[in-house]
Amino acid sequence: MRLGLIGFGNIATTLIGLLQNGGLVPEGLVVQVRPGCGDKVRAELETRCPDLAAEVVSDTDDLLAARPDLVVECAGHSAVTSYVPLVLQAGIDVLVVSVGALADAALQTELTKAAQQGGARLILPAGAVAGVDMLAALGAADAVSVRYRGTKPPQAWAGTPAEDALDLAALTEPATFFTGTAREAARCYPKNANVAATLALAGPGFEATEVALVADPAATGNIHEYDVEAPAARYSIRIEGKPSTGNIKTSVTTVYSVFREIRNRVGPVAI
Ligand SMILES: NC(=O)c1ccc[n+]([C@@H]2O[C@H](COP(=O)([O-])OP(=O)(O)OC[C@H]3O[C@@H](n4cnc5c(N)ncnc54)[C@H](O)[C@@H]3O)[C@@H](O)[C@H]2O)c1
Repeated sequence: MRLGLIGFGNIATTLIGLLQNGGLVPEGLVVQVRPGCGDKVRAELETRCPDLAAEVVSDTDDLLAARPDLVVECAGHSAVTSYVPLVLQAGIDVLVVSVGALADAALQTELTKAAQQGGARLILPAGAVAGVDMLAALGAADAVSVRYRGTKPPQAWAGTPAEDALDLAALTEPATFFTGTAREAARCYPKNANVAATLALAGPGFEATEVALVADPAATGNIHEYDVEAPAARYSIRIEGKPSTGNIKTSVTTVYSVFREIRNRVGPVAI
């Protein structure tokens, strides 16, 4: 497989390590980075994976010219908006990790149309959360309700509107600073709304998915809990994901989820 990456931060670099360790080194790698970052990323790739035929570009035309079989977006919302429609229109499947970007209804429509026009697929991985398979399956048949609660250590909420509601450094017990819909959560906390958005997309949508966000000084990881109620089943999930070393906001499980999607595409058995 020829793999394309948009972004070369925590998820991208950890993913390359997982692919190498899992015996799934891509035949070719093309990485789209921000203009001006090319030399640094080339040097890093040379150190991390000297045997990998890697190309570093800063323009989507050059990414497309490399004809990757799959592009993984692991950069952020602006990259989803600016580049992903072009890649889908070119007929290349895109796995979008920054799922929270789809809380923008116009962007969600644009991406869906681009995938249809290009004959490509927009792939939304489970990311940091488990049980999305059952939620999506139930949601297709039944009316489901989803209540999600996301808990992170106080420092993981630094630089967000949580700082206006709470003195994060002084917390001695868990504090819920946001309750609302998945749409509102994604608007106010875009870098922390991927799980809420994934549940909304797999389940009852952005308006009907209830979200609570919590800062907990006792939390050692990123905790995702949710309850599903549907006529066919009722279930609750709790995941305590370890934060990545490269980005405290990102659970390591997210990278494993992306790795699984790639393994399922190239392996003889998909699970
Ligand atoms: N779906 C999920 O469950 C889930 C979980 C965690 C993180 N995420 C999302 O995954 C994305 C990446 O996370 P990360 O931990 O690797 O972040 P990171 O900050 O470590 O890496 C992102 C990289 O992308 C680069 N980048 C940003 N905009 C770019 C652009 N327009 N063009 C090219 N490069 C660009 C940045 O310079 C950075 O190097 C974030 O959007 C994050 O919200 C999703």
